Amino acid sequence: MPRKVDYGFRYEDDNYDVYEDYDYDYADDYDYEEEENGIAPVTKAKQEASRTGVWRCPICTYDNENSMSACDICGVLRNPLVKVNNKGDTAAVGGICKDSGASVMAMSLFASSPQHMAKMPILFEAQKSVSSTDDHLNFHKDGNFRGTFQEFNSAFSSQNHHKVNIAAFKFDAPSPDDLVSNGLRSVKSKSKGEDSRGRGTNFLVESELAANGLVSSSTSVTRERHNGVEENDSTSGSGNKPETFNTRMDTESLPSKSGKARSIIERKTESISQYIPEKWMTPNNKDDGLSQLNLAIVGHVDSGKSTLSGRMLHLLGRISQKEMHKYEKEAKQQGKGSFAFAWALDESAEERERGITMTVGVAFFTSRKYHVVLLDSPGHRDFVPNMISGATQADAAILVVDASMGSFEAGIDAIGGQTREHAQLIRSFGVDQIIIVVNKMDVVEYSKERFDVIKQKLGTFLRSCGFKDSSILWIPASAMENQNLVANPSEARLSWFKGPSLLDAIDSLQLPERDYSKPLLMPICDVIKSQSQGQVTACGKLESGAIRTGSKVLVMPSGITATARSLERDSQLCNIARAGDNVTVNLQGIEGNQVTAGGVICHPDYPVQVTNRLQLKILVLDISTPIVMGSQLEFHIHHAKEAARIVKILSLLDPKTGNTTKKSPRCLLAKQNAIVEVVLQGPVCVEEYSSCRALGRVFLRSSGRTIALGIVTQVIKREE
Ligand code: GTP
Ligand code: MG
Repeated sequence: MPRKVDYGFRYEDDNYDVYEDYDYDYADDYDYEEEENGIAPVTKAKQEASRTGVWRCPICTYDNENSMSACDICGVLRNPLVKVNNKGDTAAVGGICKDSGASVMAMSLFASSPQHMAKMPILFEAQKSVSSTDDHLNFHKDGNFRGTFQEFNSAFSSQNHHKVNIAAFKFDAPSPDDLVSNGLRSVKSKSKGEDSRGRGTNFLVESELAANGLVSSSTSVTRERHNGVEENDSTSGSGNKPETFNTRMDTESLPSKSGKARSIIERKTESISQYIPEKWMTPNNKDDGLSQLNLAIVGHVDSGKSTLSGRMLHLLGRISQKEMHKYEKEAKQQGKGSFAFAWALDESAEERERGITMTVGVAFFTSRKYHVVLLDSPGHRDFVPNMISGATQADAAILVVDASMGSFEAGIDAIGGQTREHAQLIRSFGVDQIIIVVNKMDVVEYSKERFDVIKQKLGTFLRSCGFKDSSILWIPASAMENQNLVANPSEARLSWFKGPSLLDAIDSLQLPERDYSKPLLMPICDVIKSQSQGQVTACGKLESGAIRTGSKVLVMPSGITATARSLERDSQLCNIARAGDNVTVNLQGIEGNQVTAGGVICHPDYPVQVTNRLQLKILVLDISTPIVMGSQLEFHIHHAKEAARIVKILSLLDPKTGNTTKKSPRCLLAKQNAIVEVVLQGPVCVEEYSSCRALGRVFLRSSGRTIALGIVTQVIKREE
């Protein structure tokens, strides 16, 4: 069953107020282009709810107050807006919405039978037109073929793209300037056998840190140890007995005893270079089975993320027929029949009643190549903080867009579109492989023209975010009609598509490199407390290092040591979890209030840094109000959120070279790169980006919008 991750951003919370003023203004900002795209406009209609004082949205069926002129959930206008386009034709938005709306969807629910579920392994059926041009793909004797993400991509992507001249913020690559000024150092480091991970990140920052003695210069000892590892261990399997412990992480040789807080946890940074992982901490491919792939499902509200996730889980046997019938029945009873698959992920009463995801749903399925951890994000603008917190764990992402007329355009809209915001965020999480699922193709009659228009428009934007064409895979699909999900489409109208099914596309993704050689760091995304049994369980993804049953760990920021009593991976007990694994850790010897979402579980000898003052390198997004000294913001880092204030704007940077172009500017405008200093209301667990990317990425938000993306260049001593 899916696990819900609740980050605490709810309507009841005080912080909701700030989002309330944030409104879509489609009438001004949005052009409907159905005529241009070759899709005939459909008849206009408006669906009112039977309850008085409310009107029902024809797209998402949410009951809006009569005072609302547009749907509070999906932004669709209440009254048909008649737009006169260039050709002088008229098109009714309401009509468009209705055709793609709930009644049709409800009728088609379960129309296609789930026995389309393919037998493992899922293979992509070879198409003549493709096979003739793409010999490099790996053909199977049965006429299907397998391939990597890049192979699929190059085989099926069209080559004629429009290029946009926007310099993307390089989170994962040094600027040319950094390379030149630090070339000597980087060469030297590499020749010493330095771990290449993180080396290509921010050389300028790194050299500054090195000058301050804050960064280690070599992990060569670590590597030598890796090579000799032959230990036979297993990362999963409920039947395995806990192992015996004789390692440093498992012994009591800790500065403080379990249950006692350290008054000051001072970080001895230089000692990280001396860290040597133990044998069991590095994977042994022979016995470890499938690797975990953390896959974030993101996209604009109502694009069909939860329906797609629920449908995949059902097709792959993770949701039984019986459970599915239950969801279907309950959803129908609440008048939300079309949401039956989404209910598998949207578990809370409020989510179901409103028909939107509010907290990230976590579920698992197994593909031919991976244990996939699905992170089903909320698409509604009010829950972007939750999306950030969940999707920050992603190794790769599926961006779901709604193909129906008007809906895609709403998602890509510069002001209120979460397609845009999510794509930018996902890229800044370091995710560089993305699958675009153009969903609800049934609504547009599986039109190739519509698919191509979406691909062209969204592709242009994705390139401006820094996604490479070779890392984007485009899949037309219908979650509702089960087209192109785990098998190639059975729908004749989709026969023009020669690419892989969604499941094949997932299998073609590559795992990012994992930080096995560094000490344990596991940002806590959720805490489950069982008062009756006095148990505390922390959930999250290991960003570096490893943990096993019986390990002593340090829980920050409380500074309490505890023991990992048991571990769960993919909802199954396991003995060991390593970097990249998404696990729940049952902790012993610690109180519930000492473990918090936003905290970090770390190696007892290598505590994560904790501070409330940071220097950041940021990229300002499209903002209308400049950022000035004293600007109050919302600061997001991994699973933590704090109120923040800009206390210094140190310099403006050239986006191409990274050179300082101006010192101490008075304000920051859209698209500018800058170095700033922020002070947070409360302390957060943080690392410089150069030493741990996941703990060094930040997002600045204001009035319900992400206004800047950034990386931590310096952790400044905490202000008391
Ligand atoms: P949020 O989590 O709130 O952002 O929404 P979501 O993206 O998870 O969308 P959800 O899965 O809740 O679906 C929204 C509506 O779209 C539901 O009524 C679904 O039945 C409908 N829907 C999803 N996929 C399809 C599809 O392929 N075709 C059609 N016609 N409707 C779909
Ligand atoms: Mg959802």
